Amino acid sequence: MYRTHTCGELRLENVGQKVTLAGWVQKARKLGGMTFVDLRDRYGITQLVTEQEIEAGREWVLQIKGEVVERQSKNPKMPTGDIEIRIESVNVLNRADTPPFTIEEVSDGGEDIRAKYRYLDLRRAPLQRALALRHRLAQEVRSYLDKQGFMEIETPYLIKSTPEGARDFVVPSRMNPGQFYALPQSPQTFKQLLMVAGYDRYFQIVRCFRDEDLRADRQPEFTQIDCEMSFVEQEDVLNTFEGMMRQMFKNALNVDIPNPLPRMSWYDAMDFYGSDKPDVRFGMKIHEITDLAHGHDFSVFDSCEYVGAIVVPGAAEYTRKQLDELTEWVKRPQVGAKGLVYIKANADGTFKSSIDKFFTEADLAKIAGVCEAGKGDLILVLCGAKRKAQTMLGVLRIEMGNRLGLRDPKVFAPLWIVDFPLLEWDDETQRFYAMHHPFTAPKPEHEKWFYSDKKEDLERVCANAYDFVLNGTELGGGSIRIHNAEMQSRMFEVLGISKEDAEYKFGFIINAFKFGAPPHGGLAFGFDRVCALFGGQETIRDYIAFPKNNQGRDVMIDSPSKIDREQLDELQIDVRAGE
Ligand code: AMO
Repeated sequence: MYRTHTCGELRLENVGQKVTLAGWVQKARKLGGMTFVDLRDRYGITQLVTEQEIEAGREWVLQIKGEVVERQSKNPKMPTGDIEIRIESVNVLNRADTPPFTIEEVSDGGEDIRAKYRYLDLRRAPLQRALALRHRLAQEVRSYLDKQGFMEIETPYLIKSTPEGARDFVVPSRMNPGQFYALPQSPQTFKQLLMVAGYDRYFQIVRCFRDEDLRADRQPEFTQIDCEMSFVEQEDVLNTFEGMMRQMFKNALNVDIPNPLPRMSWYDAMDFYGSDKPDVRFGMKIHEITDLAHGHDFSVFDSCEYVGAIVVPGAAEYTRKQLDELTEWVKRPQVGAKGLVYIKANADGTFKSSIDKFFTEADLAKIAGVCEAGKGDLILVLCGAKRKAQTMLGVLRIEMGNRLGLRDPKVFAPLWIVDFPLLEWDDETQRFYAMHHPFTAPKPEHEKWFYSDKKEDLERVCANAYDFVLNGTELGGGSIRIHNAEMQSRMFEVLGISKEDAEYKFGFIINAFKFGAPPHGGLAFGFDRVCALFGGQETIRDYIAFPKNNQGRDVMIDSPSKIDREQLDELQIDVRAGE
């Protein structure tokens, strides 16, 4: 045996025992005639001490034998801080080059260098904690779903395009020259086929691939907790997965989430939070003031469909400079406002605004009333087309929430967003897109509009679709599905997908629906996001052992990379770019 104990294990009660430890040298230092070594493994750090000269550089791998003794000066910050090991013999298992950055709680290495040496970064405690949390959560998912009768079934990675709305990653087929597999953006069609096949409760913790622009909470390959159930209505799906989340929160974080979870319609989320993934840890809701804003000869407002406001508590004292900075902030392309109107509800009951020329004190007081602004508050107003203006206000709301410290990562405010519109009109391409995906069913009571040819009717159709939202992040989403071939064909027609195209891309599923498809529905959680938010972070990268950077590169293995001419020839592929 290489070791009798781990480096995180020994305590005062072990004093006097002879032990063998193995691990990495975190640091070694000389003090007086003694050498102290911090030996680390994934369980913790134990201090070693010796009067002998020992050779031990950073990250060397040592096996040591010695006796556990009580420390003279204890370190209450370390779980093993009451003891140390008096070294009797040292066996150098391996030497190490000097690591390019410090392997400690907080490293001195920049992001790029740590990504290149990911295996060294992974030795650090914060990353080990992140992966341990991920492991814990995966176990909770499996135990809960297994108890609920779900079967874990794997689905293929080399498939055909799946319609989740991103670009596909494709893989050339050597045996079928000129033809390509697509990697799944999700197992959506397969899990529905499993329902047709009678496996009425399916789940899979599964990798998905999407070629899209990357952000803090997006990776080109990421993991879903993917689930599907037969003979269910929306209520059954929501209850089942609320239960799963409740168990995960309880067992991993000892946090109790509300039972039942709050629900909010998509329309309310947009109207009051300007987002389909509202952060409800704080208020600062959006108020519509269109009626009060119109008719004052202020052409900016008069020419807009919608005028809305948020109230920033206690911010009436903002200086000119601060307001100018905020105005520049909303003009950034990421927000896209043309300008920002402010109304200060001063502590003395007077008002001061950037629109004083057009609005009297009484007008401003009315607006303040509708917005429920109190003395000392600052009202920020944006206008535009309704949903666009609301979205901008939503972004501003989150920013102000950040600035006021209202978004504590240790506070969890989960909720369901329900009643999504089925379809989304796109002005640019002049066609409808599926808001969730093309397999989502219209609400039965809205089917009459679904079969209408009028744009206004189609825009009114709601779906039994739902998202699980936590602290301003969409953690998961799903829907009740279409389960008959005729309705599925109608969906493709509404989406402007020709019969031939639908047949070519999704013929297999339309066909399967002709063989007794049960009513079914499901959802998928973004597992990386679940882990990150549970860990109090917004960036998912630390919760993935080997992630890609923002350019979609793995800088450790240097991928993607060119392939040999020979390999290209075998695949009968000519490359234009980068040659
Ligand atoms: P959707 O596309 O909403 O639904 O994806 C489900 C969840 O996956 C996560 N997610 C991502 N996480 C990290 N990186 C990405 N690039 C990324 N893209 C998505 C999100 C999201 O909520 N088949 C449907 C589910 C269903 O209808 O059952 C689907 O994939 O947290």
